[in-house]
Amino acid sequence: VVVSAGPTREPLDPVRFISNPSSGRMGFALAAAARDRGARVTLVAGPTEAPPPAGVELVRVTTAEEMARAVETAAEGARAVVMAAAVSDWKPAQVSAHKRKKHGGPEQVELRRTKDILAGLNALYDGKPGRPLLVGFAAETERVVEYAREKLERKGLDLIVANDVGPGGAFGATASRATLVDRSGAEEPLPRLPKDEIAHLVWDRVIKLSS
Ligand code: CTP
Repeated sequence: VVVSAGPTREPLDPVRFISNPSSGRMGFALAAAARDRGARVTLVAGPTEAPPPAGVELVRVTTAEEMARAVETAAEGARAVVMAAAVSDWKPAQVSAHKRKKHGGPEQVELRRTKDILAGLNALYDGKPGRPLLVGFAAETERVVEYAREKLERKGLDLIVANDVGPGGAFGATASRATLVDRSGAEEPLPRLPKDEIAHLVWDRVIKLSS
């Protein structure tokens, strides 16, 4: 199985980047849980302070583009791809070779969308054999399940883990409140649980969906 974790960093110049506060803990918990169940795990991780679990194949990446390449390579022959990474949705259109200097007036940065890794995998395996089961995460602050359902449809996912990241939410925490929504539309709200327990519930559901 393939698990992605942590944030990506999109450079603006040699000393600045766009990123987010993802700790990587949810992805690390998923990788460790799969390892404990005997799976061969490739963990594609962005920059994190928290240490990744031992006993998995670790691929460190920085940008969304690097993560896309690493996940696509690892997905070949995989049974499932679980994207717990908080992939940056945008990157600066231009990366300066030298440190940007401040000027008097307001500054503008032009942003471009990054490639959607999950939607890309769904398109890549469209109707072809060997398609891994695709699992996404949705971080929402409002209308959590409604937005998650919409993401599941749009990206062609088998399962989505909808996280409430409002005040006291999941970013950086060791516990979180999630709802599992699968391709049949079935919805399972979970109580606030440690991320390693959520990880096992996600794999339980992945196994059910693949049988
Ligand atoms: N994802 C991805 N490739 C991207 C961005 C996100 O595969 N370039 C994955 C994430 O790993 C996660 C899911 O898609 O599993 C989250 O979807 P996304 O649309 O990024 O969610 P939000 O950023 O919360 O979207 P929105 O801004 O529409 O709320």
